[in-house]
Amino acid sequence: LASSLLANYCTELHDDQALKVDKYLHHFQLSDKTLMDLSVRFRREMDRGLSRDTNPTAAVKMLPTFVRSTPDGTEQGEFLALDLGGSNFRVLLVKVMANGKQEVEMENQIYEIPEHIMRGCGSELFDHIADCLANFLEKLGIKDKKLPLGFTFSFPCQQTKLDESVLVYWTKSFRAYGVEGKDVVSLLKKSIQKRGDFDVDILAVINDTVGTMMTCGYDDHHCEIGLIVGTGTNACYMEQMRNLELLDGDEGRMCVNTEWGAFGDDGALEDLRTDVDREIDAGSLNPGKQLFEKMISGLYLGEVVRLILVRMTKEKLLFQGKTSAKLLKTGSFSTSFIYGIDTDKEEEGVERAEEVLRGLGLDPLVEDCIATQRVCQVVSTRSAHLCAAALVAVLRQIRDNKAAEKLRTTIGVDGSVYKNHSEFSRRLHKMVRRLVPDCDVRFLQSQCGSGKGAAMVTAVAYRLAVQHAE
Ligand code: GLC
Repeated sequence: LASSLLANYCTELHDDQALKVDKYLHHFQLSDKTLMDLSVRFRREMDRGLSRDTNPTAAVKMLPTFVRSTPDGTEQGEFLALDLGGSNFRVLLVKVMANGKQEVEMENQIYEIPEHIMRGCGSELFDHIADCLANFLEKLGIKDKKLPLGFTFSFPCQQTKLDESVLVYWTKSFRAYGVEGKDVVSLLKKSIQKRGDFDVDILAVINDTVGTMMTCGYDDHHCEIGLIVGTGTNACYMEQMRNLELLDGDEGRMCVNTEWGAFGDDGALEDLRTDVDREIDAGSLNPGKQLFEKMISGLYLGEVVRLILVRMTKEKLLFQGKTSAKLLKTGSFSTSFIYGIDTDKEEEGVERAEEVLRGLGLDPLVEDCIATQRVCQVVSTRSAHLCAAALVAVLRQIRDNKAAEKLRTTIGVDGSVYKNHSEFSRRLHKMVRRLVPDCDVRFLQSQCGSGKGAAMVTAVAYRLAVQHAE
């Protein structure tokens, strides 16, 4: 009897706390109808970005990538790749074997980019990248080879060809000056030439979404969408050339980098943004920009949770009204805390919440831990559902392009939030399937990251260049 009473008490406590948080956070909970409406809105934004007349004022830029096909399996050779813009900066050497088994071999090394370089002078950033590359080549003893190189550069770029890429503006934690409006290939070349001790052949610059689509496309030929939910969020997909009004030519397809993180930068999301979202934006490196991204991605989720906890405490709904110095400190609630707290093993999650809260100098009651878990749940669910709504617009676009009754497609996915937070991916998958029940969608997690994708794009570009020369 005692244990069933206790169980009852626990369930009641849970329901109680959930109700309290839900009441406070009702603005964070989006109904299916709202999500469907959002999806239609995003589809319109895609149209605005694709059309020649509306593109200049469109928030969602729908950038042409000059990637026209996914790998066909005949690629081969040794390629270098750089991967900049996610949680790590990496240099890779990728060997692509044309043995029919689609095998690749990789060497890779993570290098640090100190904050003063991310936010300092642009030429120093590219000098640093060249230094890391030199170090990598030296270590592998291949400094005297002039290898083809692919550059995954995960920021919005205006491209006119595969190997020219002008940074539109920085996003996430980068703000090196003197780079916006410049071609990053020229900047990198300049830094390499300045050293003068090695040379490379830069063949391609790609976004990480494109790298992810290409990596997954090597293994699954249905893959025509790339999705990132990591430090930032974004997606790319294969679009019909005839819909890409910015470019001449109507034949075939080209991958479009949507840059969906900028959805809402023209005010289109004001009805869904909350005071907390506005506070996050105001305190960010790029106020007014990437408003959709700031509601979704890993760079911001922990901070969203923290701000909610602070507000609830000030209203005496948590911790008996007592905050702590640490809780009040920007960035003190890491996004990775959410992964441990918001799990399907509810009790473990509550225990983790207690540990995290104590680490923040608080003295939580069980109620506080349960409420914190609920806050994490609500924030992460909103993020997954917003992603789902935008993804569904992309799926419908592809389905309409193919005039298919039932679309069968694969989405290649990467990013720390997607990979480390299983409740996030579960909710994302579930909502996508609920909003487009007539699509057969598979999610394929990228195994080796977008760096390998850069090598794959380079391998394809190299194959085409060689074919051309012959
Ligand atoms: C940001 C960048 C975008 C990138 C995404 C994921 O949104 O602007 O280019 O794909 O982050 O890294």
